[in-house]
Amino acid sequence: MVENVVWYHIEDVLSDDFIGKKVCVRGWIYRRSVVGGKAFVRVRGSTGIIQVVVDREKCGEEIVRILKDIGLEASVMTCGELVKQPRAPGGYEVHADWFRIVGYSRDFPIKGGEGIDYLLDNRHLWIRSRKLTEIMKIKHSVLKAGREYFVENDWWEVTPPILTASAVEGGATLFPVKYFDKTAYLSQSAQLYLEALIYSLEKVWSLTTSFRAEKSRTRRHLAEYWHLEAEAAWYNMEDMMRVAEELVAYIVQYILEHNKRQLEILGRDLKILKNSVEPPYPRIRYDEAIEILQKKGVNIEWGDDLGADEERVLTMEFDKPFFITHFPKEIKSFYMKLDPENEKLALGFDLLAPEGYGEIIGGSEREDDYNKLLNRIIEQGYDPEDYKWYLDLRKYGSVPHSGFGLGIERLVMWIAGLDHIRDATPFPRFRGRIYP
Ligand code: 4AD
Ligand code: MG
Repeated sequence: MVENVVWYHIEDVLSDDFIGKKVCVRGWIYRRSVVGGKAFVRVRGSTGIIQVVVDREKCGEEIVRILKDIGLEASVMTCGELVKQPRAPGGYEVHADWFRIVGYSRDFPIKGGEGIDYLLDNRHLWIRSRKLTEIMKIKHSVLKAGREYFVENDWWEVTPPILTASAVEGGATLFPVKYFDKTAYLSQSAQLYLEALIYSLEKVWSLTTSFRAEKSRTRRHLAEYWHLEAEAAWYNMEDMMRVAEELVAYIVQYILEHNKRQLEILGRDLKILKNSVEPPYPRIRYDEAIEILQKKGVNIEWGDDLGADEERVLTMEFDKPFFITHFPKEIKSFYMKLDPENEKLALGFDLLAPEGYGEIIGGSEREDDYNKLLNRIIEQGYDPEDYKWYLDLRKYGSVPHSGFGLGIERLVMWIAGLDHIRDATPFPRFRGRIYP
């Protein structure tokens, strides 16, 4: 019976075209009830949920008795006729003439109503939930569209290392690992390696995991996240901001075209996303951001870094993503070029997502002068010896260049309208969580 069967995607058979036809589907039991001699079984697959009616007249007493007590999440296979049924999810049901249990499930640990720590301990099972499944589909599209953007615009994809010898984004968030008889660190950013690669390939990008030993638990920080980074020779800050906004607009457009169903299931309001498909995005300087915040009564002074709370207030001023540029150099990394018009400022930019979300991209023009870079490295308390190879890049044909990094989970969080970043990744890592 199982041989030579065409297994349909559940989504595909939920259609008038299949009425009266025999279909075979397989999946996991999502819900079931037995009324009289009939079992009503909702079967969940990767594309959707379908109701299957198992009648003892057609399938026998035995299977209906088994289904009466079967645990949720048991895996099953079934074939039968597709019938229109407005009361069933999706509007159709299968009237089974054959039904098999593949794998039993006894006492599935998630019944509904459990607390967050319990659900995180059972994440390997919780990822079967509707919500997390739909989010993973959105993430798939974000990654696909991101890659497509770079391929279409003639950027080279490269593969930088994850095991590294030094910090890019500050020593405080480095994860040390034993590396033979030395200590290495998990990469915080591929940037320095991408900078080395522009001297041959000019426009490069990479998708890697980045690691940050963030001490505090917040809604938008993970210890391990997916980082999409771009770097290009001859690009100034404005050129790079155009790439950043085009990339985000391209991804949002792709999601609106391909993931309507997911956004609907998640209950996402589409208004702001629809606003976000057309670059350019607004630009404000750090100075202006401080003024706006002070006018709104936020207790902040020029020179202070913008945290999640400050960013949230600023996002209320915009109905699409927006840039903040020209930050005080003290709150930005050593590699950023200083503004030739005011050396207190760094030529850095952040792209913030609206609706309270905040930073999704950080980027800058890079310091391309050997001596200035050396001074910045010393000023920020690093050992120039650790950055010898990076400094070399300024000795042999240095060029103006710029780049940025996009946090994939931050972008998914905004697009899917999530209230916590942990749901933008199947197995989140943050302080206090490494299992499962
Ligand atoms: O702003 P960040 O620290 O910039 C860099 O790493 C640059 N070296 C990138 C570059 O220019 N190539 O990080 C870039 C982005 C942030 O805007 C944010 O979206 C994300 O990475 N990010 C995190 N996402 C999740 N959890 C964390 N702990 C993150 N830290 C940064
Ligand atoms: Mg940043």
